Amino acid sequence: MATNRTFTMIKPDAVKNGHIGNILKDINDGGFKIIAMKYTHLNAETAGQFYAVHKERPFYKDLVEFMSSGAIVAAILEKDNAVADFRTLIGATNPAEAAEGTIRAKYAKSIDANAVHGSDSDENAEIEGNFFFSSLERFA
Ligand code: CMP
Repeated sequence: MATNRTFTMIKPDAVKNGHIGNILKDINDGGFKIIAMKYTHLNAETAGQFYAVHKERPFYKDLVEFMSSGAIVAAILEKDNAVADFRTLIGATNPAEAAEGTIRAKYAKSIDANAVHGSDSDENAEIEGNFFFSSLERFA
């Protein structure tokens, strides 16, 4: 059975461009409840750890540099079928391929600066949420 939590980050491009409020509204309107949230900043080391799964990929260095270039908002979200429904809400990784009305179609400019991250599996949602939040920092 699909679990009901996913993890997201609003990335440095969307924070710098003033889209935090609009993206959080889209998340709420999509039926997701925010159960943990923080405004913070990754450095190269922590961004590298977060994206360690991609460390052999050619885009890893640029990804780490970009993700440590400015503030981010990290959050754990709750909804039935959270992982799949959130990926539908944000659209394809490459905003040029993202469906109209999705968060990436509206707020992202490139595959690197793609406005938001969404977990790709229940297992990774758990790992990524734990990366940012202790049990004391979650609403439930
Ligand atoms: P995200 O969902 O945060 O997961 C990894 C990120 O790497 C991805 O979003 C993109 O922003 C970035 N990325 C850059 N190039 C690629 C690529 N060719 N394929 C997948 N992700 C990429």
